[in-house]
Amino acid sequence: MKKRSVILDCDPGQDDAVAILLALSSTENFDLLGITAVAGNVPLSITESNARRICELGGRPDIKVFAGASQPLMRKLVTAEWIHGKTGIDGADLPDPVMPLQDDHAVDFIISSCMSAPDKSITVCLLGPMTNMALAMVKEPRIVPKIYEIVCMGGAVKELGNTTPAAEFNIYVDPHAAKIVVDSDVPLIMMPLDVTHKALVTPSRLQDFKNLNSPVGNACGGMLDYFNRFDMTRYGFDGGPLHDPCVIAYLIEPEIFRGRKVHLEIEVSSELTMGQTVADWWNVEEKIPNAYICDDLDSEKFFRLLTRRLATL
Ligand code: BDR
Ligand code: CA
Repeated sequence: MKKRSVILDCDPGQDDAVAILLALSSTENFDLLGITAVAGNVPLSITESNARRICELGGRPDIKVFAGASQPLMRKLVTAEWIHGKTGIDGADLPDPVMPLQDDHAVDFIISSCMSAPDKSITVCLLGPMTNMALAMVKEPRIVPKIYEIVCMGGAVKELGNTTPAAEFNIYVDPHAAKIVVDSDVPLIMMPLDVTHKALVTPSRLQDFKNLNSPVGNACGGMLDYFNRFDMTRYGFDGGPLHDPCVIAYLIEPEIFRGRKVHLEIEVSSELTMGQTVADWWNVEEKIPNAYICDDLDSEKFFRLLTRRLATL
């Protein structure tokens, strides 16, 4: 199978961190062109240094990491320290990174990578608010045909939101950016809460990470121990949902996931439902579908893939 060329945009975040590690362990499936950081779970200065910490943890200090937008396009930044802790990756206990941050702005890196690539050749993974991608599309619209597909974590379709009753965190933080990306006509695959809430780090799965008995296994064990407590308390789940790794797992084994092609729009007018992902699941309006939205996964296969791959780091 031909390797994909991938740009990974993220706001680490414990679940972003596990997603990055899965990407680092998947060199047989794709070339990681670079990691771009955005403000989200924690401010930008922390997300970009966390991205570097995780690359070093994964033994890949050669990966290029770029800092991007420090604020959403139009709204005030909302962060989520109450879920992720002050460091964004509480529980990991990692040293400050040594590898450098790249000089270029993340948005310019996305643009130059796309512009020098053939049409339909770049896969972009969005694991946080979509600010960097939207800015790149606005600054250089000619990147759109260069993108093969965007795979993102965001939204809540049949499920309710996790940040407001209507909205999921990544879309709520920068709904205007999400609207630009969704309306761009780029092929879009979305992993909303409907699917990620089925990817739960149960006690035995948590133990599987710890049993790796490696720096990566220990860091994941510590981070997920910390991350689990929030959702287990609020939702009564058996474990915390591993949202962002669903995106990377989709690139490796898409057959783990099930979904539907639907028409999707983002709410940007009403404060009450700001950031809602309005998906026409039953095709009541008979509009042309613009997104493939996942709503189910084989969680056993998903966690098998994760622990098998992380064991190689
Ligand atoms: C999303 O928001 C963040 O807290 C997680 O990293 C994930 O990307 C889940 O709503
Ligand atoms: Ca994230």
